[in-house]
Amino acid sequence: MSKRTCLAIVLAAGEGARMRSARPKVLHAVAGRSLLAHVLAAVRGAGTERAAVVVGPDAQAVADATRRVLPSADVFVQHERRGTAHAVLAARGAIEEGFDDILVIFGDTPLISAETLRRLRGAIASGASIAVLGFRPADPTGYGRLITNGHRLVAIREHRDASDLERTINLCNGGLMALRGECALDVLDRIGDRNDKREFYLTDAVAIAEHMALEAVALETSEDEVRGINTKAQLAEAEDVLQWRLRDAAMEAGVTLVAPETVFLCADTKLGRDVVIEPNVVFGPGVTVDDEAVIHAFCHLEGAHVGKGASVGPFARLRPGARLGAKSRIGNFVEVKEGEFGEGAKAGHLAYIGDGKVGAGANIGAGTIFCNYDGKNKHRTEIGAGAFIGSNSALVAPVKIGDAAYVGSGSVITDEVPAGALAIGRGRQVNKLGWAQGRAKAETKAKAETKAETKAGKPAKTAPAKPKPVKTAKTTARRKTAKTKR
Ligand code: UD1
Ligand code: CA
Repeated sequence: MSKRTCLAIVLAAGEGARMRSARPKVLHAVAGRSLLAHVLAAVRGAGTERAAVVVGPDAQAVADATRRVLPSADVFVQHERRGTAHAVLAARGAIEEGFDDILVIFGDTPLISAETLRRLRGAIASGASIAVLGFRPADPTGYGRLITNGHRLVAIREHRDASDLERTINLCNGGLMALRGECALDVLDRIGDRNDKREFYLTDAVAIAEHMALEAVALETSEDEVRGINTKAQLAEAEDVLQWRLRDAAMEAGVTLVAPETVFLCADTKLGRDVVIEPNVVFGPGVTVDDEAVIHAFCHLEGAHVGKGASVGPFARLRPGARLGAKSRIGNFVEVKEGEFGEGAKAGHLAYIGDGKVGAGANIGAGTIFCNYDGKNKHRTEIGAGAFIGSNSALVAPVKIGDAAYVGSGSVITDEVPAGALAIGRGRQVNKLGWAQGRAKAETKAKAETKAETKAGKPAKTAPAKPKPVKTAKTTARRKTAKTKR
């Protein structure tokens, strides 16, 4: 069979009022990725050559997000919200180009898999004109019901238009549909708005196809996959479903999750074999962890690469651009961003490493700070291989520290340190010999004097002396008036 072409139309013109949010519904995220991006990833995975996203009239943000996620996608505007079929027809221009398969997907069903989209396409390839994705929800209230006759799907009845008998059907419309490109416009153009809501229902396509003697079929999937998101609570439910998918897939691939329910992954998190993730670790977008690395408890990683066999945390933060070499070690309360941290390098407790390069085997002592920001610009710090930075040092960028150089603890380093040198940049220590003894003597003497004076009825010397008022022209004047009043 020659390869079939496919257009995916993603409907995202809904208002999403129930999210109670200033942000368009499809731009809310689960597993670190917008609902729209999840759907577009599935679309791409299903081997579609073209995607069309239908957005509402004021949805510039959705259009921008579409172009970012899938630059090849077309954006169409549905100027009036007149139903799902009306929304599909907003992409008429794309449909007219002529594709073998047309997929219609709701932008708010992020859990849909590429595999299921391929199954829908498969039904069209095997001869059906319409394939609808059905599911059996625990509670079918509100969903369109799939009305079948043998294995033929003859109609979809929206809940509000369904009879009591039809409402007992628990096979429901998941909202996804595939249409044969050849007859898609023919069918879609016949859909009218003669219903309660005066909307053009995409679901009417099925009864119309039946009328035209075109075959429609229903495929079934799990409720999870077609979970639509309308509220923040449903967003959290989808997050949970997705997190378990990601955790299960990671464990299946050989990752050890000590307490999987406490680890939060992103859709694009890449974890190698024999990676160990301890409890309470959060992955933001763009993280890759190579084989055998250990992420200890309570770490937060985003846009970072952790090399093979490296050790991170507990309580470490890797920010975008952090690249840790193989067998490197990042200790507790260490933050690393933008830059390379060499193979086998180490950073102790409470360090900040940003905008720089740390050579292989270098050792960064506790409390070391890369002072990379001068209030306006960021500057680089470069530390050579095998260098040793004493604890509590401030490296004021731009600065370079040569291979195998040493920096004494507590230094503020502002100038280049040549390879192999020792740099000490701190106030010199002064020892005052016998000082403690001298102080003790002075104190005893003072105490003795106080005692003697109290006996003699004199005020104690230790009583705080009243501060003498400073005489200025003003204070003198005030005193004078006070006197005259008296
Ligand atoms: C729809 C189905 C219903 C199915 C349910 C599954 C129709 C008529 N009904 O109902 O059979 O059981 O989904 O969740 O298709 N949209 C637009 N423009 C519009 C209207 C809708 O872009 O004018 C988009 C929405 O943004 C949303 C999708 O289409 O992504 C579905 O619309 P919605 O109003 O949520 O349909 P339901 O009533 O849930
Ligand atoms: Ca819906």
